[in-house]
Amino acid sequence: MSKTVEVIYQGTSYTLPVIKGTCGEEAVDISTLRNTTGLITYDPGFVSTGSCQSEITFLDGEKGILMYRGIPIEQLAEHSNFIETAYLLIYGNLPNQQELDYFQYHVTHHSMVHESIKNLYDGFPNNPHPMAVCSAIVGSLATFYQDQLNPQNEREIEITIHRLLAKLPTIAAYSYKKSIGQPFPYPKNSLSYTENFLHMMFSNPCEQYEVDPLVAKALDTLLILHADHEQNCSTSTVRLVGSSRCNLYSSVSAGIYALWGPLHGGANQAVIEMLQTIQEAGGNVKQFVEKAKDPNDSFRLMGFGHRVYKNFDPRSKIIKKMAHEIFGKLGGNDPLLDIALQLEEIALKDDYFISKKLYPNVDFYSGLIYKALKIPINMFTVMFAMGRLPGWIAHWIELQKDQDFKIGRPRQIYQGPKRTDYTPLKKRG
Ligand code: CMC
Repeated sequence: MSKTVEVIYQGTSYTLPVIKGTCGEEAVDISTLRNTTGLITYDPGFVSTGSCQSEITFLDGEKGILMYRGIPIEQLAEHSNFIETAYLLIYGNLPNQQELDYFQYHVTHHSMVHESIKNLYDGFPNNPHPMAVCSAIVGSLATFYQDQLNPQNEREIEITIHRLLAKLPTIAAYSYKKSIGQPFPYPKNSLSYTENFLHMMFSNPCEQYEVDPLVAKALDTLLILHADHEQNCSTSTVRLVGSSRCNLYSSVSAGIYALWGPLHGGANQAVIEMLQTIQEAGGNVKQFVEKAKDPNDSFRLMGFGHRVYKNFDPRSKIIKKMAHEIFGKLGGNDPLLDIALQLEEIALKDDYFISKKLYPNVDFYSGLIYKALKIPINMFTVMFAMGRLPGWIAHWIELQKDQDFKIGRPRQIYQGPKRTDYTPLKKRG
């Protein structure tokens, strides 16, 4: 017998159905609540609210499980690559050779951007944050392909997927090249996805640049680990924008902005900045741990804590191992790594962090790896955006095809003044 929940309000009983997910989680379906009872629900930060039913990603924050389309993240990080993982997320299954070749071909052959796009970079002030630039340029793609934006036309969606995945590394690398005053290299179709990005980031017309395969592989793994994380802030943003049947470029552009914040993707940059601050202040890690615990101090340990992971973040386990390998192989002796390790050790033994279930998250280590790979600090969150793109696309498509599709439109509980008459300016105090 299917489960139900009984709500008793003002003496009347209402029965609400319980929906069960494939991995066992259960949710009360309250979609009829307002119509039947007049009540709405209140849930700041949506901590107890499921916004959709999704087949893309499963995570269990208590057990530290993360799976894309049912495949554990550990297996994907070990055996897959970013392009194959992107296909899996977007189309729902691992591709066969023919499907992979087709996808790979198109994601490679759309990597050039319209020459006029390069002029847009000149319109920004000096040294703009690359997240702002990337979001603006991705948004501008809707003007270059305005005859192919229909969210319900399969062919138009397909070419938009290819264009977005192909062009984001080019757009991202150019935002860096612009900030250092170097010319924009053209993409090279003979290179892999991450090799091509590194080529556009670090080559210049005067010197030969050889992509280090170790760096390209590490970057590829980081992109896989960031590729989706179900209904996080930026993905929910992409879905909400897409729920007005807005095109995919504009929805992703909004997602990039949502990701930029330091509580979300911006944390990887914030972690390095925090470690630098600790180093400049003399390296007294304990003092900063105390600051983070002080309720009167707004300082937080960046890279610690997660809305859903309350035991450990499975991505941070993989990434921590990788960080040590990278540091070993690239020979980097970064004093920030020592500070990070001390911080981790002290915080993990501290009652405050234990009782609040605050553990290092994926961003605690990813910034250190990006730094070792010589990615500039203000590009860290852009790397996250490149990784998250297939997830955003997959969720946007799932929403467009959802049989329960509705424009997203939450309610609110108004707490402002009651009806008040307009006071003419002369009569105001
Ligand atoms: N340092 C110190 N105290 C913390 C921290 C932290 N990093 N994170 C949470 N707390 C405390 C917080 O003060 C609160 O204490 P109290 O119950 O006494 O008020 C309690 O823990 C619960 O915090 P919350 O903000 O209500 O928890 P949340 O689930 O809403 O927030 C979070 C999750 C990730 C925003 C938060 O842990 C945080 O700000 N972490 C630092 C930023 C960060 O690393 N973000 C990256 C997240 S992983 C990448 C991604 O997926 O976006």
